[in-house]
Amino acid sequence: MSEDNHVGVVGAGMMGAEIALCFAMAGHQVMLKETSLELAEKGKNRLAGVLDRLAKKNKIDADDKPLILDRITPTDNFDLFENVHLVVEAAFEDEDVKKQIFAELDTICPPACTFATNTSSIPITVLATAVGPERIGRFIGTHFFSPVSLMPLVEVIPGLDTAEDTIATVMAVCRQIGKTPIRVKDVTGFAVNRLLHVMWIEANRLLEEGVASIEDIDTACRLGLGHPIGPYALMDLTGNDLNLQVQHILQDAYGERFRPRPLLKQMVSAHHLGRKTGRGWKHYES
Ligand SMILES: NC(=O)c1ccc[n+]([C@@H]2O[C@H](COP(=O)([O-])OP(=O)(O)OC[C@H]3O[C@@H](n4cnc5c(N)ncnc54)[C@H](O)[C@@H]3O)[C@@H](O)[C@H]2O)c1
Repeated sequence: MSEDNHVGVVGAGMMGAEIALCFAMAGHQVMLKETSLELAEKGKNRLAGVLDRLAKKNKIDADDKPLILDRITPTDNFDLFENVHLVVEAAFEDEDVKKQIFAELDTICPPACTFATNTSSIPITVLATAVGPERIGRFIGTHFFSPVSLMPLVEVIPGLDTAEDTIATVMAVCRQIGKTPIRVKDVTGFAVNRLLHVMWIEANRLLEEGVASIEDIDTACRLGLGHPIGPYALMDLTGNDLNLQVQHILQDAYGERFRPRPLLKQMVSAHHLGRKTGRGWKHYES
């Protein structure tokens, strides 16, 4: 896909807005679709601050900021999706919502347009059933990581009927926007969430057994394993309610090894959800 190719992003929340930004930074015109124009504009407006932070880290030239933002068109409808080459969907994590979006897009987007979903837990093969037989070969998962503007990894997940040339195209697109794609099978949790939650569950065991404190477990992972951030700091960023929900999904798929620890359930019952509630494993100023 060349820089002239237009991209559609559905959902301007935490993930969608920054996915749109990554495509705009790589030179693409991006249509950013939300349920209302107000939400689409709100998502785009947040990106000015993201670009300022990227400029401070010397990842972009501050003078390019207006040019990059101009490439993103907020919208509340799919009219502008008639000419897009790729759609990345980052709406709510709800099978019906996502299927409805893809079914509608299937009637609007050109036949050659590739559909990608940023789902973290719904099988790609299930979501692909929302499109017709002509599109199904061009349906794929692209699992970005938060914050998208900083995290280089994308898990590229073919569904059962995804064509090999779609996989190759999407891997190339990821590289073109400065990301590093890895190919992963369409299994629950893909690869990264399986690795992550096994570690988080074991961290909670260490804590329950009194082996080490929250601070020391974080220090162990940062200084002993080279992780940029410890498990408790990261759990507080993602939110314990979501962490628990994901562990239930993984437990359903893989059994005992992903059974959430009682301590995590207690934290959720107490509404100690993380940064968003001011208290999680650690305390945060409002
Ligand atoms: N948050 C993460 O760290 C993370 C990481 C990887 C993948 N994901 C996945 O990315 C997707 C989005 O997650 P998020 O954290 O950005 O959620 P979010 O709630 O911040 O954003 C979702 C946005 O989608 C919009 N939306 C809902 N229905 C829509 C529709 N029909 N058309 C257009 N917009 C619509 C909502 O208004 C909302 O702004 C989910 O599938 C999630 O599982 C999230």
